[in-house]
Amino acid sequence: MKATGGSDDAKRRAGERAAAEATDGMVVGLGTGSTTAYAIRALGQAVNAGLDIQGIPTSFQSRQLALSAGIPLTSLDAVDTVHLAIDGADQLAGRHCIKGGGAAHTREKIVDAAAERFVVVADRTKQVETLDHPVPVEVIPEAWTVVTDDISNKVGGAATLREAERKDGPVVTDNGNVVLDCEFGEIRDPAMLALDLAAIPGVVEHGLFINLVDTAFVGTDAGVEEQPF
Ligand code: 5RP
Repeated sequence: MKATGGSDDAKRRAGERAAAEATDGMVVGLGTGSTTAYAIRALGQAVNAGLDIQGIPTSFQSRQLALSAGIPLTSLDAVDTVHLAIDGADQLAGRHCIKGGGAAHTREKIVDAAAERFVVVADRTKQVETLDHPVPVEVIPEAWTVVTDDISNKVGGAATLREAERKDGPVVTDNGNVVLDCEFGEIRDPAMLALDLAAIPGVVEHGLFINLVDTAFVGTDAGVEEQPF
């Protein structure tokens, strides 16, 4: 798993606090990443102690973790409602966040947006006034050069193909696509940027989650701050 920002203790506090929001009968979206992993492990412990939930994983990683934690799994097409989604973020500003550091943002956005309540778990290093983290963009492999050009010429960003670390060539997502990490500097109008990125042919999904966050649990050295929006 990639290494990110804050301390493991802060991530654990945030993840475990969010897991405590799950109650009997809930369908829970299971996000991806090191912070959400703490929530998934805590949910598994609660299931083993009698909690009755079903999980919907958002990636290969979260599915494997949920299986090993003992969480019964289901899928979006098998349920009427996703009651709660718990997921991490690369950067968080109010109700907006940037995701995709684990290249899982397409499935994450589908599940997080479908949920009645989307809860972000993060440590303090992720929280900012103005988003400025590179935006991951999942792209059909054949389109990566033309999307790179469009991001430069039409949206004013600089796209870099995400390279794999223990594989030659690019990171390949769970959906068989590649990821462009797109630098825009300070993102003054994230909603407009989201529309511009979504309009580029070849883009499958971008990592800007606009107005989706309902609650953030932010882990600190001292505890967890709950931020409802
Ligand atoms: C995966 C994600 C992750 O949730 C995001 O990268 C945060 O990960 P971590 O909790 O490890 O910092 O968006 O696609």
